[in-house]
Amino acid sequence: MKVRANEVLILNGKYTAINTPKGIVLVLFTLLLVMLPLSLMRNSNESSPTISTINNSLENSTEVKQCNIFTGKWVPYPEGPYYSNDTCHWIINEENCMKFGRPDREFLHWRWKPDECELPLFNATQFLQLVKGKKMVFVGDSVGKNQMQSLLCLLSQVSEPEDISLKYTSDVTYFKRYYYADHNFTLANLWSPYFVKASDADPNGHTFDSIMRIYLDEADEAWASEVEDFDIVMISAGHWFFRPLLYYENGQLVGCNKCGKENVTDLSYLYGYKKAFRTAFQTLIDLKRFKGVTYFRTFSPAHFENGDWNKGGNCVRTKPYTKEEMKLDEFVLEVYLTAVEEFKAIEKEATQRGLQFSMLNTTEIMLLRPDGHPNNFGHARDENKKYNDCVHWCLPGPVDTWNEFLLYMLELGQTSSSSKL
Ligand SMILES: *[C@@H]1O[C@H](CO)[C@@H](O)[C@H](O)[C@H]1NC(C)=O
Ligand SMILES: *[C@@H]1O[C@H](CO)[C@@H](O)[C@H](O)[C@H]1NC(C)=O
Ligand SMILES: *[C@@H]1O[C@H](CO)[C@@H](O)[C@H](O)[C@H]1NC(C)=O
Ligand SMILES: *[C@@H]1O[C@H](CO)[C@@H](O)[C@H](O)[C@H]1NC(C)=O
Ligand SMILES: *[C@@H]1O[C@H](CO)[C@@H](O)[C@H](O)[C@H]1NC(C)=O
Ligand SMILES: *[C@@H]1O[C@H](CO)[C@@H](O)[C@H](O)[C@H]1NC(C)=O
Ligand SMILES: *[C@@H]1O[C@H](CO)[C@@H](O)[C@H](O)[C@H]1NC(C)=O
Repeated sequence: MKVRANEVLILNGKYTAINTPKGIVLVLFTLLLVMLPLSLMRNSNESSPTISTINNSLENSTEVKQCNIFTGKWVPYPEGPYYSNDTCHWIINEENCMKFGRPDREFLHWRWKPDECELPLFNATQFLQLVKGKKMVFVGDSVGKNQMQSLLCLLSQVSEPEDISLKYTSDVTYFKRYYYADHNFTLANLWSPYFVKASDADPNGHTFDSIMRIYLDEADEAWASEVEDFDIVMISAGHWFFRPLLYYENGQLVGCNKCGKENVTDLSYLYGYKKAFRTAFQTLIDLKRFKGVTYFRTFSPAHFENGDWNKGGNCVRTKPYTKEEMKLDEFVLEVYLTAVEEFKAIEKEATQRGLQFSMLNTTEIMLLRPDGHPNNFGHARDENKKYNDCVHWCLPGPVDTWNEFLLYMLELGQTSSSSKL
């Protein structure tokens, strides 16, 4: 049982606030276990019975579970994707790259290989067993919904849900709810690209880069009033924060991002992004009835090349970057770190409240996949679209990996909670 507690700490080790002396002891204990054999291996000639005992116990108890699944590399995987546009009918046009004639296939033949272990294949039967009787929700923007659509496809190998969205909302484009009757499992998304209250501020209406007002200290009721009933919450946001924004706090205009107004201070996108995450995490923790497990999925980078997104930028690559090719640009790193900081700041409080907060650290792994976006294959050829999509991900595609992570972490979470009994 002790070992199991260890396992979880180590997986989350880098970002779990270890706030009790007991936690520190556990980590030190595990570090010792990990490091001992390493130092022993150096003079393995002198191996003795004591050493092999340590070796054995390490093999059995900690080898698999102490793995940091987010550090690794993409490796060729000839077996290819779990599903296709023909076998899964849930793929929306915008992400249905095969349907709209994407010619290359190599991007479908890679798998994420963590340095320290194997990431198990997605097993729909196992996933559905783990979530039986539960409700899961994606809170955030369309990239979060992208992951939900991937999950629908992955699960469709075993079970098809009923679309019950209309029972809950009239806005069924942005708010979806699916019910897997055979497992009493509900899968939903709550659209809220800022997590906080927002409205259009451009008299000419809404476009991709029109100005909006966001109220940084007021959670968006669209999710805040619904989320309490969910057992699993996947929360993420990003790309909406880069447009022109007017920031409000306490109902007052406090600054903006790229608003170009002389009398309003430009506080940059990071200011809004940070505060919105703070409000979102705090809101979750303050909900009295909320007992769910929260997964914060880190920023999913875009890959526009040859121009900005609105200046003809595109993403035509057909292979992942190698680690050498990849440039971890300042911008992505800043966005990623800003939200991670907020996550770390709230984690301690979450733990004290008895809530499990974990991170799906997908930024760097996706940065390696400039080949995974729809580019101009998210719509019919004759449909006149102004911009290429280098933000969302083709289905099937590298985004399926996020659900492999999710399954891995759900399983680990269950192991740790059952060991507490
Ligand atoms: C110790 O572990 C290594 C790596 O897992 C393995 O190859 C080796 O056979 C083990 N040694 C003993 C004595 O069990
Ligand atoms: C490791 O596992 C093997 C077989 O599963 C078992 O025989 C052995 O006793 C275990 N060792 C430890 C130290 O738990
Ligand atoms: C996230 O994963 C990357 C590798 O993909 C690693 O460099 C980074 O340290 C991780 N961040 C956290 C907070 O664990
Ligand atoms: C799936 O994509 C192929 C091209 O790879 C296309 O021929 C086929 O019509 C598509 N199927 C559906 C259902 O869209
Ligand atoms: C998937 O999971 C189920 C239930 O845990 C298990 O019975 C089955 O063998 C697994 N399938 C594969 C291919 O591993
Ligand atoms: C389905 O799960 C919910 C909890 O999400 C529970 O309240 C309900 O009783 C379950 N229904 C059935 C038929 O098992
Ligand atoms: C800023 O100036 C505009 C006119 O240019 C005015 O409408 C607005 O109320 C001013 N805002 C503040 C905060 O003073």
